[in-house]
Amino acid sequence: MHNDIAEILVSESQIQEICQTLGARLSKDYAGKQPLFVGLLKGCMPFMSDLSKHVDLKIELAYMSVSSYHGGISSSGDVKIKMDLDISIKGRDVVIVEDIVDTASTIVTIIELFKHRGASSVKTVTLLDKPEGRKRPYQPEYVGYVIPKAFVVGYGLDYNEYYRNLPYVGILKPEIYNS
Ligand code: IMP
Repeated sequence: MHNDIAEILVSESQIQEICQTLGARLSKDYAGKQPLFVGLLKGCMPFMSDLSKHVDLKIELAYMSVSSYHGGISSSGDVKIKMDLDISIKGRDVVIVEDIVDTASTIVTIIELFKHRGASSVKTVTLLDKPEGRKRPYQPEYVGYVIPKAFVVGYGLDYNEYYRNLPYVGILKPEIYNS
């Protein structure tokens, strides 16, 4: 698996530092509140788990499964909800937990949906931001690491469902998806 990686972009120790820093910022910004953290499956899984341990507040965790990639290495722009939330978000302060914001089609669609459902506030924390990929103007409030326009895998991010279990984020060798 490691042989398929061209370059490590964010190491295991950098990821842990990012989780600490973002967790501290969220703890401060949401002090006195009980925000609902909504993880977008499957990519959010390791990040949600590590980040939430550094949030020193009574938070609730919930998950949704959404998909904009239907295999391959680029977003279709067509966002599908595969599994919806099992709780109401009316009146809640929602923090969406994402692995990466690329075109921003997914996050913008989910934010519009949550506002329509009556959330008090909706903000986004993302491990990675790929601003050069944007198709819709959007700036996440909490960003762990800004990456160049490359296809990355690891720490939740996949290529055709593989590599999510890599402990770091790396650039996948192009020959893997070109072959
Ligand atoms: P967006 O809707 O284009 O912003 O993309 C959001 C989703 O696309 C992310 O949650 C990822 O699942 C996937 N994605 C975007 N860029 C990458 C990448 O470089 N590697 C793996 N998945 C990606």
